[in-house]
Amino acid sequence: ALEQEAAKLSGENDWKAFRDRWMSRKSGVLMQITEWLKLAPKEQKRDVGQRVNEVKAKIEAAVDAAEARVNSQASSARLVSERVDVSLPGNRRPLGVKHPVLRVQDEIVAVFKAMGYSIGEGPEVESDYYNFESLNFPPNHPARDTQDTLFIAGQEKKQQRDRLLMRTHTSPVQIRTMEKQRPPVRIVIPGKVHRNDALDATHSPVFHQVEGLCVDTNITFSDLKGTLDHAFKSLFGSSVKTRFYPSFFPFTEPSADMQVSCIFCGGKGCRTCKFSGWIELLGCGMVDPNVFEFVKGNGYDPAKVSGFAFGMGVERIAILKYGVDEIAKFYLGDVRFLEQFA
Ligand code: PHE
Repeated sequence: ALEQEAAKLSGENDWKAFRDRWMSRKSGVLMQITEWLKLAPKEQKRDVGQRVNEVKAKIEAAVDAAEARVNSQASSARLVSERVDVSLPGNRRPLGVKHPVLRVQDEIVAVFKAMGYSIGEGPEVESDYYNFESLNFPPNHPARDTQDTLFIAGQEKKQQRDRLLMRTHTSPVQIRTMEKQRPPVRIVIPGKVHRNDALDATHSPVFHQVEGLCVDTNITFSDLKGTLDHAFKSLFGSSVKTRFYPSFFPFTEPSADMQVSCIFCGGKGCRTCKFSGWIELLGCGMVDPNVFEFVKGNGYDPAKVSGFAFGMGVERIAILKYGVDEIAKFYLGDVRFLEQFA
């Protein structure tokens, strides 16, 4: 019976039940056999004891053997069930890439870095002083209205210059830079800016700009033209042309809008350039002497130094570079859009 039972065992639970049935101290078969020893008449105790010991050894051996067999069955079953099929295809993990807007921003910055410019940054929550006053926007001047400013609530009790707002351009960092660093200065400033604009195909209330500032002795408008022309040939290819149109900014004089020859039609005229052959890309100009007056104490005497500044919208350039039809596509996080830049 012992051997027959042992042969039928499969699995650890079977084996435990088998062990208890034969060896349990309370009710096991071995226990019952040991009882016989007590009942045996004195003269037979020796014989019976010997027999009981033989039986006990048999049972123990059978239980041990069954355990070894059950264990090895379980481990070979595990080897089969946990087998790794190394020929199965792996799980593909999609790689992330840099967002196209930041990629273009980095490209612009790199072009100026190669010309010896350093990189600066400033706060997005800015004071009226840095965003407007020190950039030669007079108090309550209508030029402030062109910036569609988002004001921080609860600032009414402060003096106008101390009131906080979301910066509408990266130009305040021109002043912050000149306060910290004596001339010469060559710096580019990438960053987010905010305007109270409704979202449409080409406008977003938050977008990115790259500002540039160069101040030294004898900086001229030719330096501005040469620098920007080189930068946009690097960004769009050496056949791109630039031209400068008169414009107005309170902090530059003279001011200009820079246009590039249409990168889609090469200047022949197409829908993108509204058949003009040219695309307006940035604002620029010679730093207004009135701006230097605000940082004069740090070596910016307008009689001794001159400089140029420029500011460009990064999304606008990215839209042209990649032929994107709606600015919002940059912000929605749709992987089908973003993975095209991988
Ligand atoms: N700050 C201007 C804007 O946001 C751009 C600009 C920068 C113009 C520097 C001239 C010089 O429109």
